[in-house]
Amino acid sequence: MAKALFIVFDGLDGSGKGEMINRLHNYLFSRNKSYKILTTREPTTGKYGKKIREALKKETNPMANADKLLELYVKDREEHLRETILPFLNKPNSNIVLCDRYYYSTIAFQHTQGIPLKRVIELNKNFKKPDICFILDLPAEIALERIDKSRRTKEKFEQLEFMKRLRKNFLELKNYLDDNIKTIDASKNKEEVFTQIKKEIDGFL
Ligand code: TYD
Repeated sequence: MAKALFIVFDGLDGSGKGEMINRLHNYLFSRNKSYKILTTREPTTGKYGKKIREALKKETNPMANADKLLELYVKDREEHLRETILPFLNKPNSNIVLCDRYYYSTIAFQHTQGIPLKRVIELNKNFKKPDICFILDLPAEIALERIDKSRRTKEKFEQLEFMKRLRKNFLELKNYLDDNIKTIDASKNKEEVFTQIKKEIDGFL
């Protein structure tokens, strides 16, 4: 692998991103001992990320507070890139960043919240493009069932009608972003989902 790789996972809550990132981390780690791998996420645990989590905890209406959240997600991303992602990618040797959510979330979620598409794209257009982005796709009903089974209380954006529109917006990203987006069928079992991801990664490395 000649250059550093920046890999993003995005999609609905309940799509299994966390599990797939863990699996890919383990797979890459065992595949080549010289790989240095950073697993990270948005929202971050930085100052803007904390504000985001506080705001999300207080809210139940998925459509509320769109402008304020949009501003915080973009500031959080700017800080995340500057302080964490770019310094890691710029170090010598083989470095791989695996990031759980990125600007695809802002474009899909905040557009679903009612912000015009043009505006969400504009605010994110200068951020570094990942080498590959996996969108884990599944029906909103299945994502919600998984969230229910995990027995945690539902968060702000975890409501069926919102998630149906959100899913559509995630699937449409491919039509207007010139990014290397791979849509993965995440409704299957974990083994099958990871097989699809591994195939793409093996082709890429
Ligand atoms: P989530 O990934 O669930 O974070 P955690 O599990 O650490 O609490 O993100 C919180 C919510 O924020 C989630 O419902 C997705 C949403 N979100 C956006 O609406 N826009 C964004 O740009 C990002 C990164 C997340």
